[in-house]
Amino acid sequence: MRGDELRIDLGRLRRDIEALAAIGRDPTGGISRPAWSPAHEEARAWLLGQLRAAELNPRVDPAGNVFGRLGEGTPVVLTGSHIDTVPRGGPLDGALGVLAGVECLRTIAASRIRPPRALEVAAFTDEEGRFYGFFGSRALAGSLDRALAERLTDPNGLALSEAMRRAGFDLARTPEARRDPREIAAYVELHIEQGPWLEAADVPIGIVEGIVGIRRFRLTFVGQPDHAGTTPMDRRRDAFLTAAEYATKSRELVVRGGQGRAVTTIGVVDVWPGVPNIVPERAALLQELRDSDPALLERLATRTLQAARRVARRRGLVLEVTHLMRADPVRMSPRIQAAIEATAAGLGLPTRRMPSGAGHDAQILAAVTDAGMVFIPSQGGRSHRPDEWTDWPAIERGANVLLGTLLHLASGDV
Ligand code: GLV
Ligand code: MN
Ligand code: MN
Repeated sequence: MRGDELRIDLGRLRRDIEALAAIGRDPTGGISRPAWSPAHEEARAWLLGQLRAAELNPRVDPAGNVFGRLGEGTPVVLTGSHIDTVPRGGPLDGALGVLAGVECLRTIAASRIRPPRALEVAAFTDEEGRFYGFFGSRALAGSLDRALAERLTDPNGLALSEAMRRAGFDLARTPEARRDPREIAAYVELHIEQGPWLEAADVPIGIVEGIVGIRRFRLTFVGQPDHAGTTPMDRRRDAFLTAAEYATKSRELVVRGGQGRAVTTIGVVDVWPGVPNIVPERAALLQELRDSDPALLERLATRTLQAARRVARRRGLVLEVTHLMRADPVRMSPRIQAAIEATAAGLGLPTRRMPSGAGHDAQILAAVTDAGMVFIPSQGGRSHRPDEWTDWPAIERGANVLLGTLLHLASGDV
């Protein structure tokens, strides 16, 4: 059989997606496999078992990344995504890219086709950023900030180094996970869109042109604790109300200055001492800003932090700022975009070029190799929630586009 006639086995891929979705299933809804948690470790062990069964040379690196491999030598063509999830997430974010990658390698292994280049599939650690967004792909690309990693905790205060130790890993050894960029010929990742556009346009395949940059910081407003019944309103230095005033101001700034595209989210608010009869002394916000234009993202970050300082000063509070994560906006490789487009055309599938508002390991790999992404539609644009879904025929189309693109890239012709 020729490479362009090869197709993945949807039944086998479906069984894998359903089996992985059962790991970390949260009784309150959704799937919770935060990086380095017991559920994530169970998923890693399960994936290693699948790779072993398929004789795809399983391996784990010191950053906790899992790899499977077909063929010998370098440079390799790499695919993959992540098997960690957000809390109460859905079954496809990350899992699809990893399991479709495994399925592509299994399909090729079972055929007579032996591409000149070896193929690898990766499951990268902590893409979602429980501690450090894109931890595993950063370790591979050599862009992990060690000093930052030593300081990072999850939102409950558990240190990354301790979480890794509990899972049997050592943060100090993560530099060993770095791969020489010359070993990686290309990276291509299949993912659900996680937004509404492909479904709305009734287009089955998205070709990602670029991925947004992300800034994540903690803003702690420090005021003064006082009795909630006896302290007049004009004598208070209320940390929560000051943080709330800033939050709405920040939204206005991003809406006004974000060219209708930039977004900001405050997903965590912690208030101390955290009882109703003490005026809050401290309020900490975890905030993200995202946009695809580096200059605009920089400007919005500067302006929103200036606004935080202004509001704090006006209310007599002190502001503490900690920068937690930074990923720059990137463009996807035209060579990979063309390979995806040619594959989809060969399968008779219409495509659309589009940006990604979600972060992906591909944006980290893009610094060291030609990287690209294939999107398939998300029902109702829903993601990072339990009812995230894409139907099986759409998954099959996406996995076949991934298969054809990998074969194309592994042929060494492009
Ligand atoms: C990853 O899913 C992100 O965009 O936060
Ligand atoms: Mn993802
Ligand atoms: Mn995600």
